[in-house]
Amino acid sequence: MIDVQKLTMHYGNFVALKGISFQAREKEIVGLLGPNGAGKTTAMRILTTYLYPTAGTAKVNGIDIIEKPVEVRKLMGYLPETAPLYPDMQTEEYLRFVGHARGVTGHTLIERLRWVREACGLEGVWRHTISEISKGYRQRLGLAQALIHDPKVLILDEPTSGLDPLQIIGIRDLIKELAKEKTIIFSTHILSEVEAIADRIVIINEGEIVSQGTQKELEDEVRAKGENKPDLDLEDIFISLLKPKKKKGKA
Ligand SMILES: Nc1ncnc2c1ncn2[C@@H]1O[C@H](COP(=O)(O)OP(=O)(O)OP(=O)(O)O)[C@@H](O)[C@H]1O
Ligand SMILES: [Mg+2]
Repeated sequence: MIDVQKLTMHYGNFVALKGISFQAREKEIVGLLGPNGAGKTTAMRILTTYLYPTAGTAKVNGIDIIEKPVEVRKLMGYLPETAPLYPDMQTEEYLRFVGHARGVTGHTLIERLRWVREACGLEGVWRHTISEISKGYRQRLGLAQALIHDPKVLILDEPTSGLDPLQIIGIRDLIKELAKEKTIIFSTHILSEVEAIADRIVIINEGEIVSQGTQKELEDEVRAKGENKPDLDLEDIFISLLKPKKKKGKA
């Protein structure tokens, strides 16, 4: 369970997050959806304790990110916007290295390496030097490093970025499978992505939460505001929630 409480982030004079609050329950997939610059990456960096918030906090399985950042990190797997890879290492060597850094050793490490190799589809590049593998494989390797220690919580910043359509489907299926035993927050600006995998959607824009809920709840909210298009898809909902408020009486 992740409980984000009034997170605020200032970069100098610029306010990137304006007191956002949301929750992700156990075994739930929450999609942070927002346009470029909305504050998604900032929120994820704070949650994973790489950035210190200006105000507010979050609790991960009851542990406060500010009071006990190291404990929080142990619980989490994090795929940052740019996967943290060492280009001179080989795929397997790198994952072993990350596994050791995460305290996974011996037989458990062998098992976990085998599992991520298959789950993330890395068989074809297992002994390749990272600088030579394609962007899509690098993204999968980024996901593999986030999973090596079998964390309870996953924070994925645009997990399907750089993947081709078939790979996107593969990673979406994997995320859904992982949610059977993990709490997952992922970010995207791709509407079909949240539609395909999120149990709940948090729409964020200019550092504020515009709305949150299941797709059905968001649809109801938009309808309550007067939208009467028969088949509302997420794109309609997104546009409706993000556009400036209209004056009464207009369609
Ligand atoms: N280190 C920084 N210093 C100053 N401003 C920053 C910094 N990092 C992010 N910002 C600004 O904060 C805002 C939110 O950025 P953030 O990267 O969190 O957005 P995002 O929702 O992840 O966007 P994208 O979809 O493009 O990845 C942007 O306006 C960005 O320019
Ligand atoms: Mg981002």
